[in-house]
Amino acid sequence: MLQSTQETFDPGIVLLPGFALSERDALRAGIEAVTDRAPVRRMQVPGGHTMSVAMTNCGALGWVADAHGYRYSALDPLSDLPWPAMPETFLRLARAAAAAGGFDGFEPDVCLINRYEPGARLSMHRDVDEHDFSHPIVSVSLGSPARFVIGGLARRDPTRAVVLHDGDVIVWGGPARRIHHAAGSPRRRAGQPTLRWNLTFRRAGP
Ligand code: SIN
Ligand code: FE2
Repeated sequence: MLQSTQETFDPGIVLLPGFALSERDALRAGIEAVTDRAPVRRMQVPGGHTMSVAMTNCGALGWVADAHGYRYSALDPLSDLPWPAMPETFLRLARAAAAAGGFDGFEPDVCLINRYEPGARLSMHRDVDEHDFSHPIVSVSLGSPARFVIGGLARRDPTRAVVLHDGDVIVWGGPARRIHHAAGSPRRRAGQPTLRWNLTFRRAGP
């Protein structure tokens, strides 16, 4: 896990290629355990559109969208039960990746789990529903590769694209905490199912 290759794009945006590769099987087992109890679902957003990405959460809080807006909730609205606890492997990886990206002391209370089937994508947005933007975002890619678009703080700032592969981690925080970003549809790989998972670790609460 703790290999040292990294690429800094702008201050506060660090790509850690393959950082999660050695933990891949444990992460997949964690995803299975979480989704058994809190299945992924395609959430509705204000305006009535249904997201193409299917999502769930683990941790003390979970990100949810519905017709009324976006928020963090301690309960899964499907079950009215607390979200499953964050598996220890998830926590360890998130802490280590944040530190490798230059953000020591990261203690996530949310892991948003995104499942991208063929054609699913996430359009340009910022992660701004959290309480305190001094904490970074740690984003882990698993499975099929996909294009990840990195924008700036302003919606119209220039963008650049990278391809995130299985096990890649990207961390953004500090001056880049509120950048725009987007994720494209998973790309086909020979002999493998077209399916991408993304784990986004955040500290959402106080
Ligand atoms: C996100 O912005 O929440 C997910 C990004 C990704 O899938 O890489
Ligand atoms: Fe995001």
